[in-house]
Amino acid sequence: LVVSGHTLYINKSIGFDLTCIDKYLYSMRFSDETLHDIKCRFRRELENGLGRDTNTTATVKMLPTFVRSIPDGSEKGDFLALDLGGSNFRILRVKVTQDKKQPVQMESLVYETPEDIIHGSGTQLFDHVAECLGDFMEKQKIKDKKLPVGFTFSFPCAQTKLDEAVLVTWTKKFKVSGVEGMDVVKLLNKAIKKRGDYEADIMAVVNDTTGTMMTCGFDDQRCEVGIIIGTGTNACYMEELRHIDLVEGDEGRMCINTEWGAFGDDGSLEDLRTEFDREIDRGSLNPGKQLFEKMASGMFMGELVRLILVKMAKEGLLFEGRITPELLTKGKIETKHVSAIEKSKEGLTKCKEILTRLGVEPSQEDCVAVQHVCTIVSFRSANLIAATLGGILTRLKDNKGVARLRTTVGIDGSMYKMHPQYARRLHKTVRRLVPDSDVRFLLSESGSAKGAAMVTAVAYRLADQTQS
Ligand code: GLC
Repeated sequence: LVVSGHTLYINKSIGFDLTCIDKYLYSMRFSDETLHDIKCRFRRELENGLGRDTNTTATVKMLPTFVRSIPDGSEKGDFLALDLGGSNFRILRVKVTQDKKQPVQMESLVYETPEDIIHGSGTQLFDHVAECLGDFMEKQKIKDKKLPVGFTFSFPCAQTKLDEAVLVTWTKKFKVSGVEGMDVVKLLNKAIKKRGDYEADIMAVVNDTTGTMMTCGFDDQRCEVGIIIGTGTNACYMEELRHIDLVEGDEGRMCINTEWGAFGDDGSLEDLRTEFDREIDRGSLNPGKQLFEKMASGMFMGELVRLILVKMAKEGLLFEGRITPELLTKGKIETKHVSAIEKSKEGLTKCKEILTRLGVEPSQEDCVAVQHVCTIVSFRSANLIAATLGGILTRLKDNKGVARLRTTVGIDGSMYKMHPQYARRLHKTVRRLVPDSDVRFLLSESGSAKGAAMVTAVAYRLADQTQS
């Protein structure tokens, strides 16, 4: 029996019947029919976000990025890149040359962003960013230079040009006061000016999805989609300008940041959300928001598994009904644990270790069952993302008016990179949902900041041309 590419099986070695778990978590396992349905719903969201009359009320925001093409190979220069909003805050120096062997050289440092800063005030946040940038320039011995800076800022921003980005709303783990509705370039410039010990020229703000598409586009000219599956999840793609009602002009294309994490915020996924999804949402920083992201990204994957285990234990289906304070503690099962538990060889041993740490004294059957729960939860994520990506790919195909779509998708994010089976499952499902396509998935090896530097390089070249 095969349900959405996922073979149900009975673990013969210990004679444990996993079908009871499949039944228990029935609502988390999607048939291909459901996935096609999600794909179609998402396509309508794309259209709503692009339309003049529907944009203001659309849940999937479809934000224009003012990035009009992927790198063409003529970029060059010495740049700084800031990367804020992913799992780490990083600062990089990116040198782009015409050297065939090693066109891009990068050096980077990771800086801490303490909890009190991501939940503090805007002034504190940008003072911190400016301080780290100063420290980085000092270490690079470039404090006397005014280098162009590209800023990867991984949150929804309304842009009317490359170097202006008004934060629409915080997402993921960030909640900093006094920044929503403000231009983050202005805020950062102000913080840098206040210090007065160095100068910087912030030329472009890019979402991490756009950065990823640009990074991958440097190696593969066919890349026209960028996806992140990490703490958060989101995608961007190249849309025909004639379909983007909010931007003047009809010729050429522009990258659109879909902000698909908000899919479902208007209730359109209610039939698919479970009691566990609702509980996660209620306890989050932004209840009612980013509902698709909460089902599919890495941020709550461990927590979803924990909530399921608590319920199953309460019903006596696991651990002989044992429930410990650890098992009841929010955050005790992390996404990296889900990845470890699903490893094909040592997964069960890891599972035993993790559950033992929670004090539930698991039997071998418990471990097999918990592994299966993890599989269902992470498989649901890959399926959901395959469906929305399928929506984007079919749109690209229609835009081009071709019978078969040949394209490349640039991808980054901890969930995609770290989970042992995730990437394979995602690729397989996408290919099933969009059969008339040859899709290449390209892992962004060097992160989105390289892409931000590329965008900056183009902006820098154009600015230079207009001045001379
Ligand atoms: C969240 C942000 C989005 C970002 C994604 C991945 O969904 O809103 O802008 O791209 O996380 O980091």
